[in-house]
Amino acid sequence: MPIYNEALENYVRDTFGVEDEVLSTIRAEIPRRGLPEITVKPEEGRFLQFLVAASGARLALEIGTLGGYSGVWIARGLPLGGRLITLEVSEKHAAVAADHFRLAGLTDKVELRVGDAHDLLQELANEGPFDFVFIDAEKEGYPAYLDWAEANLRPRGIVAAHNAFRHGAIVDSSDDDPSAISTRLFNERLANDDRFISTLFPAGDGTAVGVLRKVA
Ligand SMILES: C[S@@+](CC[C@H](N)C(=O)[O-])C[C@H]1O[C@@H](n2cnc3c(N)ncnc32)[C@H](O)[C@@H]1O
Repeated sequence: MPIYNEALENYVRDTFGVEDEVLSTIRAEIPRRGLPEITVKPEEGRFLQFLVAASGARLALEIGTLGGYSGVWIARGLPLGGRLITLEVSEKHAAVAADHFRLAGLTDKVELRVGDAHDLLQELANEGPFDFVFIDAEKEGYPAYLDWAEANLRPRGIVAAHNAFRHGAIVDSSDDDPSAISTRLFNERLANDDRFISTLFPAGDGTAVGVLRKVA
């Protein structure tokens, strides 16, 4: 019998991933304003906030903002003076996220950039190194985003990626959807890359994480 099951997932969420009113409002507003309900779950958000705080990150990057839900969790893990840059290709999503960062009182900490992340990342390479990179945009882009993170994280910097289970598709060998293939490729790359100490946090749809080894 699997140990980690839905009851335990609910327990973790209800015990450690409790949202305040701002976060629950943002999560409710996302579908109400016509955006897809594909945010991280509260316990995944808390895990991101934990990673940011534990690593002492000051400069964080998020690829895939949607309505700003995970961005609020991440930004809340940063110290005073810390900064989150978050990238979003959809103007509609970015407008909703901007409202939510305002609602959360985080406009001084969060900078939202609108455009295709693959283009925006080229310029962002001059603004690093980054302490924390969270990947949550189109799955086909994950391997390229991992390459970028590896090149632009500081030593001991952390990369985290959402949907590492791809709703179970990663262990279904008959699933040859491009997003499943990219997610498998991403996980295998991260697991086998000697420059990262990595693992997969099995809550929600799975968060793959890696810490960049200190260069000898
Ligand atoms: C899964 S949602 C992000 C959810 C968000 N991180 C959260 O948990 O609250 C993915 C977002 O990435 C955006 N996206 C997809 N491809 C992108 C790209 N190439 N560049 C920037 N954003 C992209 C989508 O428009 C969408 O808003």
